[in-house]
Amino acid sequence: MDIYAVVRVICMFPLYCVSMAMRGVFYVTTPIYYPNDIPHIGHAYTTVLADVLARWRRLRGDDVFFLTGTDEHGLKLQRAAEKKGVKPKEFVDLMVPEFKKYWRLLEISYNRFIRTTDRDHEEVVRRALEKLYSRGLIYRGVYRGWYCSSCEKFYSEGEYEEKEGKKICPIHRRELEWVEEETYFLKLSAYQDKVLKLVKDTDIIYPRTYAREIASKLEKEGLRDLSIARPKDRVYWGVELPFDDRYVVYVWIDALLNYLTGIGYGEDEGFGRYWSVVHHIIGKDILWFHTAIWFAVLLMLDVPPPRRVLVHAFIINRGLKMGKSVGNVVMIDDMVDRYYSADSVRYLLMRLLNLEKDVEFDLELLDNMYNGELADTYGNLVRRVGILSLRKLGGLVGRRELDEELCGKAEEIIGEVSKLMDDYKISESLVKTFDLLRTTNAYLNKTKPWEAEDPEPILYNAIEAIRVATNLLNPVMPSVTRKVANSFGFEIVEVDKLEFGAFREFRVREAPILFRKVRAGAPARGK
Ligand code: MSP
Repeated sequence: MDIYAVVRVICMFPLYCVSMAMRGVFYVTTPIYYPNDIPHIGHAYTTVLADVLARWRRLRGDDVFFLTGTDEHGLKLQRAAEKKGVKPKEFVDLMVPEFKKYWRLLEISYNRFIRTTDRDHEEVVRRALEKLYSRGLIYRGVYRGWYCSSCEKFYSEGEYEEKEGKKICPIHRRELEWVEEETYFLKLSAYQDKVLKLVKDTDIIYPRTYAREIASKLEKEGLRDLSIARPKDRVYWGVELPFDDRYVVYVWIDALLNYLTGIGYGEDEGFGRYWSVVHHIIGKDILWFHTAIWFAVLLMLDVPPPRRVLVHAFIINRGLKMGKSVGNVVMIDDMVDRYYSADSVRYLLMRLLNLEKDVEFDLELLDNMYNGELADTYGNLVRRVGILSLRKLGGLVGRRELDEELCGKAEEIIGEVSKLMDDYKISESLVKTFDLLRTTNAYLNKTKPWEAEDPEPILYNAIEAIRVATNLLNPVMPSVTRKVANSFGFEIVEVDKLEFGAFREFRVREAPILFRKVRAGAPARGK
């Protein structure tokens, strides 16, 4: 390095430090999934949502940590392994690569894949339990109740359904089991008022309908002490209680603590920085655990509550929540087969995304969205503009005067999309971006660059609009947008630097076909 370079580095260092200090931080988590079976579209819904938020924040320039993983202990997994005739650990070791395979296919950009059988996690669970025990928050007692091993949860009267004298799980439609045993309880009830205050008086739970739901449940039923131990003669697959080796800890306590382990609770100095901005992304089925129970446990451990619990409703099929035990699941492979790429599946899932309402998995609707939006609007525009640039200008498209209207529209959409994405309104943000693509198609129809003597200004403006839209679509469709960027010779930039008309010269290399059409309404392939 010459002396000037050294001086430059020294001079730039304070600037670099300031810009690092100003970068935002974002910690996002998915639920850790039970690896008793391979993940389906329902699991992908949550995971892709978390991934899109992670990618969006990276595009905002934030320092992002994204955690996902598997919830490997408990009766459900123990039984699944027994059914296969293998030890639970062998079973989960076989299943975890399957999860990773699907997340690789869907380009899930997690920073850590946590397993509850990871050593550091088991250590965190033991330490947390010791702390709770030493603080007198755990006591012995007898538990009697109706249990669903698929939910890993006790159901009280009013919560379960009754059919022909049998108690039925409202989610899995399976008969509940009567369980009566000596156990240890966690004194959640002592935290009822504090938890209620967090639910009602902060904006942690989003959307707020879910906060109202939890507040009303807390007000009506209260927060009861929770049985957090399972005798080993019934459930042997779990983390042993540090103060009584005849028991393992209840799987949900084990599972929730993964969010602390993932960023080095008790070990890493960076813990507080990430924790202060944690976003838990969950489906509404596990809302109670992630609010009432989790907030209380965190209070007990002197850890602040999460910054946000972002809740979504279900993907349903024939009116019921998609789930293996109901038998109405759509597999990730089948959807990727039908729509040709993981990116299309990501797009469609995010286009369907609804935090408050369940959405029906409707192939006809999806086919129409795919054909109309991805193939006819985005795909067609890229192909048209690519071909014209190659034919008319040999692929070299330099900056020319900006079209005021298109420029104004693009700038407006950058602002709107940024706001929507920051507010987790992903589907709406996609609609907005497609508005820009549609406007650009109309702009071409109006200006007819194929007839123009000097088509460069038109093509420059059209490619700029494609660049802006592609940049904004990048968190949802990382692969396709990379392909467009490579074909037109630009790079995906941080949103703050995205500006219509900023690019000097495009070197178009090819006019890719991004999406092949599907035959609308045709039966699912591969079935
Ligand atoms: N292991 C627990 C979570 C522990 S987190 C500390 C668990 N696992 S699960 O495998 O059952 O996954 C549940 C999550 O998967 C739901 O909360 C939701 O995010 C997602 N979904 C599963 N089926 C779904 C639909 N049909 N629709 C939408 N999301 C769905 O619970």
